[in-house]
Amino acid sequence: MVIRGFSGRSANQGLPGPSSLSVLARLRQIQASPLAFLMEYTRRYGDLWGFTAGTQPVVFANHPSLVKHILLDNAHNYSKDTFQYRQLARIAGKGLLTSDGEIWLTHRRLLQSAFHHSLHDELATTAFVLAHEMSNEFAQRNREGGEGKLVNIQPWMLHLAMRILGKTFFSMELDGASESLVHSVEIALDYILHSSFQFLLKRENKYAFEQALAEIDQFAHHLIITARQRKKKDSTSKDFLDILVAALEGKGTVSLTESEVRDEIVTLLIAGHETVATALTWTMYLLAAHVEVQEALRAELFNTLGGEQPPTYQKLSQLTLTRHVFEEALRLFPPAWLITRRAVQEDILGEHRVPANALVVISPYAVHRHPSFWAQPEHFDPSRFESALAKSRPRFAYIPFGAGPRLCIGNQVAVVESLAVIAALVQRFRFSLARASAVPQMKASVTLQPKEGMWLRIQSL
Ligand code: HEM
Repeated sequence: MVIRGFSGRSANQGLPGPSSLSVLARLRQIQASPLAFLMEYTRRYGDLWGFTAGTQPVVFANHPSLVKHILLDNAHNYSKDTFQYRQLARIAGKGLLTSDGEIWLTHRRLLQSAFHHSLHDELATTAFVLAHEMSNEFAQRNREGGEGKLVNIQPWMLHLAMRILGKTFFSMELDGASESLVHSVEIALDYILHSSFQFLLKRENKYAFEQALAEIDQFAHHLIITARQRKKKDSTSKDFLDILVAALEGKGTVSLTESEVRDEIVTLLIAGHETVATALTWTMYLLAAHVEVQEALRAELFNTLGGEQPPTYQKLSQLTLTRHVFEEALRLFPPAWLITRRAVQEDILGEHRVPANALVVISPYAVHRHPSFWAQPEHFDPSRFESALAKSRPRFAYIPFGAGPRLCIGNQVAVVESLAVIAALVQRFRFSLARASAVPQMKASVTLQPKEGMWLRIQSL
């Protein structure tokens, strides 16, 4: 592969960055820990840097004003036709997350009502009740003599988030089915991640991917059939699935094909469960690592909710510290750590010309550590989100849910759901670290996960 430098004026008008040869020389290292590479080069080259991989210019934008330009002001010039989204489309087809243009806009408008805030009361109850059910299993283990035993909370959070998604958007109790669904989604996402970097994948991996995809398809198909039957009985319900099925049946202003409906269902499964589960996993880790914050948060829960179970959405929205802790977790460990776009036409970013077709990369992980906007960026400090401090920062310095027209459609859902889960768990248990050690290693997969799961000690209060 020919790699040309990207630092000459002719290539990129003097954009700083590593030589392409040095990137090539470190390729293995970069693949093994992309975050370390990202942070090292960002520290060295600043707010806008890049290199050329083969003939492909790659540009990294790390300043809030550049983020605003790419994701909001000139968003129509930045498409999702990138390697990242093409890979995701192998699973999710042309759903909201991966599509562009007219298709995206029509579907976004159609589905927006399934995320309306009138959903929040029911969502708060569902999330709290299902989290409480999960916590019964923790309590049972403790009663059976495992008090204070270590639990890997990551798989628990994945199943919980999947069950909440099923109940909220498909009006379906997933129970046991969530386990195999979580597993299939995991296999599929893992495969597309690895096939991004390796040309020779084992045949059994490909087979496992195809099997996983078949299971996901089957689930989507089953949902559609169930929703069609359900609709006949109860025509007043209109969750996410009902909206899709109505469009499939040609009722309403938008008509969708079965494959479009399948793609939106699968998109929701992919975008809406691992992200939330990962955010909650990191939040619980941070609370375990900062016992004094955990105690203050617990006091807030008791004072504000007063033992009300399940709490209403209105009560949850009064939990200031709990929300700040969650926001800080999303800052330090943004599940969606990488946002990519392709420049449709040449553009000017800051003082630099970015050629058409350049791959433009924004990493919330790097932006959330920009030293001009975040003092001691590696420190956990929920007070950063107190209103006076938050107002003094540019809006685009904090982008866990992206920004602009492609802002996460589930951002409010993620917050309400997470507050309810944290409330259910922290009122009942004390969480502590296996050992007071360094930050768990991260695995920058499709989402930013802890590499070895998240083992915490859980003690009944
Ligand atoms: C903490 C949890 C979550 C995080 C961190 C997160 C993050 C993001 C980000 C950064 C984007 C924008 C990607 C881009 O611009 O390239 C996005 C888009 C999206 N998210 Fe989320 N998300 C979360 C939860 C959810 C939930 C709960 C749902 C659905 C139930 C969801 C559904 C979607 C969809 C459908 C899109 C595409 C929206 C569009 O382009 O119109 N997400 N998410």
